Amino acid sequence: MTEKITIARLLEMKKAGEKIVSLTAYDASFARILDEAGVEITLVGDSLGMVLQGGEDTLAVSIEDMTYHSRMASRNCRRSLVVTDMPYRTYETVAAAYDNARTLVDAGGAEVVKLEGGIEHAETVAYLVDRDIPVCGHVGLQPQSVREYGGYKVQGRTDDQAQRIMAGARALEAAGACMVVLECIPAALALRISNELTIPTIGIGAGVDCDGQVLVVYDVLGLSARSPHMAKNFLAGTGSIPEAVREYVRAVKSGAFPGREHSFK
Ligand code: KIV
Repeated sequence: MTEKITIARLLEMKKAGEKIVSLTAYDASFARILDEAGVEITLVGDSLGMVLQGGEDTLAVSIEDMTYHSRMASRNCRRSLVVTDMPYRTYETVAAAYDNARTLVDAGGAEVVKLEGGIEHAETVAYLVDRDIPVCGHVGLQPQSVREYGGYKVQGRTDDQAQRIMAGARALEAAGACMVVLECIPAALALRISNELTIPTIGIGAGVDCDGQVLVVYDVLGLSARSPHMAKNFLAGTGSIPEAVREYVRAVKSGAFPGREHSFK
């Protein structure tokens, strides 16, 4: 249980068909609970802008915010891999992306950085990977693009969108990304992407056929003001936070979560 999760291990898990479990954490106490429950990837998500800071979206989160929370959470990630989000507008040029990603790694304890976008960021991904900074991609619903979408909307339902998402995922893999988050896309599209890519796909609102699953921990514990369609409250019925997280781990590993009611067509 104490063997550190590596990118190589996640690739082995994909090949073996073993589901990868991820949850968000923003501090040391939650990170410890996740780590001890067997979560493989602790995501220090910029969702903290909403669940910790009370913002309407993630756009006001700064690199200082992410560095601070990543440093706190990473202190207790003895086994799980720490993936930290690059906030909005911190990777607009390759040079800025490198400086900010370096800060998240060196001062924030991140082992992988995550950025949102497909083809348009492939060059940035390659630039970071060439400089030994592992990168996780994120396609489908990209919360940092909420203003362009006009709200949080399922992506990839039209042929055009589906092709763009598929092409983005391919471009991220070709650029050297070590995994990719698929958010709020039809389950059938997520299955196609997961079958085609050799790197793991981590789904949120993307159906049960992704190589792994991630949720915002506050949604798993029923603490958010509104429970999103793709989330499930695992605290109800378990009675303690560690047990709720263990139940989430079991449900993802067995394929019981997500059900069709947490997925999109
Ligand atoms: O910021 C975040 O928490 C995320 C996940 C929900 C995928 O990006």
